[in-house]
Amino acid sequence: MIQPPLSRLKTKPGNQESVSGTFSAAWQSPSNIALVKYWGKKNGQFPLTPSLSMTLLKAFTQTRVDVVENGAAKGFLSVNGDENHPFLPKIKQLLTWLGSEIPILSTVTLKVITINSFPHSTGIASSASGLSALTLCLLDVASEMLQVSDIPRAESDHMASYCARVGSGSACRSLYGGYTVWGETPGIIGSSDEFAIPVNHSIHPEMMLLHDAILVISEKPKILSSTLGHSAMHDHPFIGGRILQAEKNLDEALSALAANDFGKLASVAESEALTLHALIMSANPGVLLMKPATVEVIHRVREARRTGLPVFFTLDAGANVHVMYPHSSAVAAEKFIGDALLPLCENGRVIFDSCGSGPQPIADVNPAS
Ligand code: PMV
Repeated sequence: MIQPPLSRLKTKPGNQESVSGTFSAAWQSPSNIALVKYWGKKNGQFPLTPSLSMTLLKAFTQTRVDVVENGAAKGFLSVNGDENHPFLPKIKQLLTWLGSEIPILSTVTLKVITINSFPHSTGIASSASGLSALTLCLLDVASEMLQVSDIPRAESDHMASYCARVGSGSACRSLYGGYTVWGETPGIIGSSDEFAIPVNHSIHPEMMLLHDAILVISEKPKILSSTLGHSAMHDHPFIGGRILQAEKNLDEALSALAANDFGKLASVAESEALTLHALIMSANPGVLLMKPATVEVIHRVREARRTGLPVFFTLDAGANVHVMYPHSSAVAAEKFIGDALLPLCENGRVIFDSCGSGPQPIADVNPAS
């Protein structure tokens, strides 16, 4: 039975000022790609619609957190030795909230070392992997300081998903391998706006092997921050239709994943990707994130599928394209990608990834892994 999130870490044994020792934790956590998109929030950090994602294997972040001082209530931290690291605002937002939930975390000075397996400046969003890895480290450090050592993995994953959501919504889906749903949905037992849940029990084994080739169309950083993008949904003219569509698409995507119906999954996932961009284009101000090469890839993927190759595309809030294909067609799909799509990628960059098994604790960050 899962405890209410964080209940064990709220209480502190004795006087927390007297906690002494060295505390550190290191985790590797993957990125994920949404097949049904989270776009727009309600009441703070809760999703406007439910979303469904596949956790990746090779696109991950490794993070190590060291408590360099405690009892000083400084709340001060550095990332990779940099006190002005671009990742710091999101970390501070998470840490401020966590400090109010787990008081001992507001009494520490932290050093964070974090590296991504995917190369810098590939335009791949790293917030899901980065904030899930960081959350796992912070919860471990808090448990160590509070001498709470008996939290079962299911409960700690649940806590981490609940907390990671505050740093970045999509990060709450990275806590589990395979497929996860975030957002309260009638018919999905245990689903919640507060955390993601794994739904692998209802997924066909072939779909657990799905491949995702990430085509780097542009290496430039995102031109639309997700914070601004989500907030533009508040007064979006299509908000009502979007909510209904996401609920229907979630239902269809889950039944396609259960039945190993690749064609149905392709049609739902592509509709979700194009809807995400249509919502962004029709917001105020409207933003166009696709590049000419993005559109060309989409045409070529659809043409390949029409001629019998099982491939579909999906998009994040950027120009890069994820091309998905079953394991059984990997050789043919990768030949098609190499011949027809790779020439459209910036510097010929493609990251060949697949469905992964979720975060794991590590001894330390290792740039060579
Ligand atoms: O987690 P955020 O706030 O960076 O939002 C990410 C939203 C998308 O990546 C565009 C879609 C999704 O569901 O992952």
